[in-house]
Amino acid sequence: MTEKEEIYRCNICGNIVEVFHIGTGKLECCQNPMELLEEREEGMGAEKHIPVLEETDEGVKVKVGSLPHPMEENHCIEWVEVVTGDQVHRKVLKPGDAPEAEFKLKLDDISQIVVREYCSIHGLWRS
Ligand SMILES: [Fe+2]
Repeated sequence: MTEKEEIYRCNICGNIVEVFHIGTGKLECCQNPMELLEEREEGMGAEKHIPVLEETDEGVKVKVGSLPHPMEENHCIEWVEVVTGDQVHRKVLKPGDAPEAEFKLKLDDISQIVVREYCSIHGLWRS
């Protein structure tokens, strides 16, 4: 059984999927169970991975992290995601981009949103 917004990765081929409709089956890829990615909120490397949220006139700006994360070919932030209630907003990044993303959102309460980012080496983080 899956849960909404869970993110799974195939450690054989690299497929990554996010659940937006819950089902009862187990997710498999390459004939193996996919790994449910844990959202890290602390620990080693937190200063370069925990998203830092800033309110703007039009929504929010997210920087990854308090020390900017590298954006190199073999180690970069692949996406930044803002989850507000039942909406998911995602910006895909590539090597060479700044490790940040801006989202135009109407927010009632900035403390109600979840921000996640995925590092190609260090996995899924949230704030
Ligand atoms: Fe990283």
